[in-house]
Amino acid sequence: MCIGSHSMDTSDYTRTTFPGQPSLYHTYRQVASSSLPRNIPPVRDFTPRELSEFDGRDENTPLYMAVNGTVYDVSNGRSFYGPGGPYANFAGRDASRGLALGSFDKSTLTDLDAPLDDLKGLDKTEVESLNEWATFFAGKYLPVGKLVPNPTAEEKKDN
Ligand code: HEM
Repeated sequence: MCIGSHSMDTSDYTRTTFPGQPSLYHTYRQVASSSLPRNIPPVRDFTPRELSEFDGRDENTPLYMAVNGTVYDVSNGRSFYGPGGPYANFAGRDASRGLALGSFDKSTLTDLDAPLDDLKGLDKTEVESLNEWATFFAGKYLPVGKLVPNPTAEEKKDN
């Protein structure tokens, strides 16, 4: 059940009705905002651990989140992704699998020191759902970079 609650104890409703049966909001939300500047190139790379610094712990630090490899500044959505928000688990993390599955359960997140989530195992509907979310984020938030894998042991040695 998800009605009336956005608590982070989501174990009993990690799977929701959308995309099959989207909520009114998810059906009618604006997919693109004309006020955003377009074609801004990614400005820097973030490893999962670097990205995790931008999880909203500090009010003066922007809130970032990765969707399909792109890191977005979701500071304007602090009420969603900031501490205590319904989607706080996504803050500072790769939210791709959670968005694809319609779940904000922690199990959809990839360990910070693990290889990037290759999104294996998602079915066609889940991939489509993720792509729709990617379009949504690209329309609402500014991209600030891209998610890159953690350096290998070899690369670490070289630095
Ligand atoms: C449990 C049932 C759910 C309800 C009742 C619900 C309700 C809502 C509502 C009302 C909004 C829009 C709020 C606003 O515009 O002020 C919203 C936005 C959103 N929801 Fe849900 N939601 C549910 C489940 C989920 C799940 C499981 C996910 C995760 C995959 C999710 C991800 C999002 C995202 C990413 C946004 C956009 C926030 C933004 O604009 O940045 N929702 N939801």
